[in-house]
Amino acid sequence: MAALLDDHGIAQRVFDHIEAGTTDLSDALWREPVENYRSKERLAAEIQRVLRRTPVAFCPSAALAEPGAYIAREAAGTPLVVVRGTDGEVRGFRNACRHRGTQVAEGSGCAKALVCRYHGWTYGLDGKLGFVPHAHGFPGLDKDAHGLVPVRVREKGGLVFVTQEPSQGGDRALDALPDLLGKDQRLFAARESRVPANWKIFLEGFLEGYHIRSTHPKTFYPYGFDNLNVLEHFGPNSRVTFPCQRIKKLAEVAPDERKVEGAVTYVYQLFPNAVFVMLSHHSILSVLEPVSVDETRLVTYALTNRPAGDPTSVAAAERDAAFVNQTGGAEDMAVVCSIQKSLASGANEVFTYGRFEGAIAHFHRALDAALAAPLP
Ligand code: FES
Ligand SMILES: [Fe+2]
Repeated sequence: MAALLDDHGIAQRVFDHIEAGTTDLSDALWREPVENYRSKERLAAEIQRVLRRTPVAFCPSAALAEPGAYIAREAAGTPLVVVRGTDGEVRGFRNACRHRGTQVAEGSGCAKALVCRYHGWTYGLDGKLGFVPHAHGFPGLDKDAHGLVPVRVREKGGLVFVTQEPSQGGDRALDALPDLLGKDQRLFAARESRVPANWKIFLEGFLEGYHIRSTHPKTFYPYGFDNLNVLEHFGPNSRVTFPCQRIKKLAEVAPDERKVEGAVTYVYQLFPNAVFVMLSHHSILSVLEPVSVDETRLVTYALTNRPAGDPTSVAAAERDAAFVNQTGGAEDMAVVCSIQKSLASGANEVFTYGRFEGAIAHFHRALDAALAAPLP
């Protein structure tokens, strides 16, 4: 699996492109049938064969900082609860009481145990069934066989990944994942919203810089470049680098001392349905949960880039986030909704992705391969 460029390598590649007026190019065009964004059968297969069988980014580790911290939400249509134990390990469970199925946690919080609100069955943070009120009503109940049902969880690079069902590769794909978040980056916002578009249409909007000048003429473009990206793949994932104009200042810095933080935006596409974006003062993890063929639940966690002890870190991160959301982010959303509305027009049987849009092609190639992979 190819390693990602370091800061010096990224800066040099960007300088070369600025000088030559070029950008990274993929080998070939990609053609994606529009039916793949509209078909309910296709979406069901994506959920069952890919989203549930791949280690999917669930949240940043920082969202589960304390022992007992939990997050309960649906992933690929399955209600899950993910919780940090008193031993520091993060575990995940199907969020369903083993008595009659009530969800044992809602939203997020910090708890000593997971208590079902219906009749009070109580589970440890390790999922074991502990207390059963009036237990004499359940003669012969094997408590060990009635713990919460676990899913596979792994922390890597500052993120928590969940795999719901066994897959051929297990979570080996995570081995090559770089550290994306440092230990002292602080979570300052977590939110959910609904996007009236197919999850893949929404995802594609993050993955190329060909649209920057046209879609974002007064917001992102003045700070960036027209169609200038560094494109790298690692396993089924990609990293797309969007340089800012201020990267030019690094030309005066000795190559080995160049630090690109604040001078580029990194977009990591974490296959299949998550995007990690490192901006100037904050980073976001966005998880795109398909609700239906034309609706996506967007779960976003925002973190400071500076250490928590730095008093300017949260204010700068919040300013950065407000700017991105209210300006360019809104422009991207408008385009995504516009595409979704045109899907039924019959105008396009396929969409053609050019050689500037290679991260999108890489994603579709990986998705096709995962859909075709034999089940274990
Ligand atoms: S359903 Fe949970 S205790 Fe009855
Ligand atoms: Fe955009």
